Amino acid sequence: MGQPDAVFNKANLQADYFINKKRGVKQMKIIVCKTYQEMSQAAADIVARQIKKKPDTVLGLATGSTPVGLYQNLIKMNRDGVIDFSGVVTFNLDEYVGLPKEHPCSYYRFMFDNLFDHINIKKENVHLPDGLAPSLEDECKVYEQKITQAGGIDLQVLGIGHNGHIGFNEPGTPFESVSHIVDLAPRTIQANSRFFSSPDEVPRKALSMGIKSIMHARMILFLASGKDKAEIVSRAFNGPVTTDVPASVLQLHPDVTAILDEDAASCLQKQLLLNI
Ligand code: F6R
Repeated sequence: MGQPDAVFNKANLQADYFINKKRGVKQMKIIVCKTYQEMSQAAADIVARQIKKKPDTVLGLATGSTPVGLYQNLIKMNRDGVIDFSGVVTFNLDEYVGLPKEHPCSYYRFMFDNLFDHINIKKENVHLPDGLAPSLEDECKVYEQKITQAGGIDLQVLGIGHNGHIGFNEPGTPFESVSHIVDLAPRTIQANSRFFSSPDEVPRKALSMGIKSIMHARMILFLASGKDKAEIVSRAFNGPVTTDVPASVLQLHPDVTAILDEDAASCLQKQLLLNI
C-alpha cells in the first residue's frame, strides 16, 4: 500500500519531503482557474481520469460549499456515461457528533443529496463516520481500519477552512493524528452556522479523519474558491509548515494538485511567480 509505518511527526515528515525532493518526486502543482465553474470542471476531470485508470478507486471526499460544483460535474459525467462509479469506494473526511443521518445538516445527508443519490455508486461502498455511534472512540478506530482494509485512499478531495483546517482538524491538531473526536473551533461553528437555522444548533463536536490519515492518501486534490480564502491559502502554501495552519502540512505531501479560482489565488500569485 506504500504507507509509511513511521509515526508522522514533523521531523519525519520533513525528512520524507527532503528525500522526495532529492528523488525528484513531483511537488505541489497549483492550477489557477478564472472561475469557480472552471475550477470545478478541472477538478472533475482529475477525478474522472483517476476512476478511468483505476475503476475501484478509493476516494476521500469533503463536504462544504467548495466541492459542490465538482460533484455536479461528476454527476453529469456519470449520466453521460463518461465515468462509472460501480466499483468506486468512498470515505468522507468528517461528520458532526449527535446528528442522525437523516438530519438535513448531517454530512451523510449532504453527500447523498449532492452526489451519491445521483450516481451509480453502491451504497455499501460509501463510508462516513457515525456521529451517533455508542462509542465515538471505537468508531474512530474502526473508521481507520476500514480505510486500511480498503487499501488506503487513492485520491483525497480537500477544502480549507478560514482558519486553515482540513477535514475538521483545527489549528493545533498534531500532524500524527488519525481519526479522532474534535471540538469545533468557534470560527468553524460560526462559518457552518449558515447551514443551520441558528449558530446554537451547530454541533460543538465532530469526528474527523486525522492529519496523518489525510497525508497517507496517495494523491491530494485541494480546492479553494473565493476572496475570503485567499489569505489562508497563501499562509498554507507559502508560509511555514506549522500546526497553527493545518493545511500547511500539505507542503510535505509528495502529490498535491491544488486548483484555485483567481480570487482564492489572489494573495498567492506574486509569491508563486517568484517560486516558478
Ligand atoms: C468538510 C471539511 C472542511 C471544509 C472546509 C471548507 O468535509 O472537511 O474542511 O472543506 O470547512 O468549507 P467550505 O467549502 O464550505 O468553505
